[in-house]
Amino acid sequence: MNKIIVANWKMNPQSKFEVENILKGLSIFTKNLNNIDIIVCPPSPFVFIAGKVKNKKIVLGSQNVFYEKEGSFTGEVSVSMLKNLGVEYIIIGHSERRILGDTNDIVNKKILAVLKSKINPIFCIGESMRDMNGFYLSFIKEQIIEGLKGILKSQVKNIIFAYEPIWAIGSNAERGAVPQEFTEIRIYIKKIISDLYDIKTANIVRIIYGGSVNPLNAESFIKEGGADGLLVGRDSLNPKKFGAIINLVK
Ligand code: PGA
Repeated sequence: MNKIIVANWKMNPQSKFEVENILKGLSIFTKNLNNIDIIVCPPSPFVFIAGKVKNKKIVLGSQNVFYEKEGSFTGEVSVSMLKNLGVEYIIIGHSERRILGDTNDIVNKKILAVLKSKINPIFCIGESMRDMNGFYLSFIKEQIIEGLKGILKSQVKNIIFAYEPIWAIGSNAERGAVPQEFTEIRIYIKKIISDLYDIKTANIVRIIYGGSVNPLNAESFIKEGGADGLLVGRDSLNPKKFGAIINLVK
């Protein structure tokens, strides 16, 4: 299975000129790639332009979506609109969206809607802090169980699970996570999926890591942590740094 590297640009950059520059800057790093899927998730207004300037090795993604098909939902974007622009992956349940109101129930509705349209959800989970009693584990379990409600065994393999501990995300992060912390959760997610579905399904699903990924730690999450890929925020806006991450995974 190909490794996955997701660029989550968040609410950046501010102009289409910069979108073009970032994507052009990436082209030297994506030239001879065949064992990695690079998924770039620009802000919604830039999805179209990113689709125009990206190269063949880059796949389009979105940072969010609404679960209703169409109609009176001011400010929202539908799955078909994104699909129409060539989007193949959609991030769902990012902690920054959960803070803005995306509950487990909403996340579940979004995953269901996205799977129905044969797009791959990148399902984000992660705790805000770790405690000695391990309550964070039941928090993660609840996120997974509620997020996967009504999802069939045949559909789960199309979901990419992204473990993103909130305490390791962004420039205010307490600290970055270490590969062992990722491994622990990776095994835990597989156990939950095995209990919900079966071992075969648990073995197939891909689990990636996100939270302060940079050229210095990227390799360790793949090699030591066993990650199937990475979700990169800040460093995905800088083609040199993102390119270095791609090279390390390669
Ligand atoms: P970061 O963001 O790499 O800037 O920590 C990761 C994310 O929130 O997806």
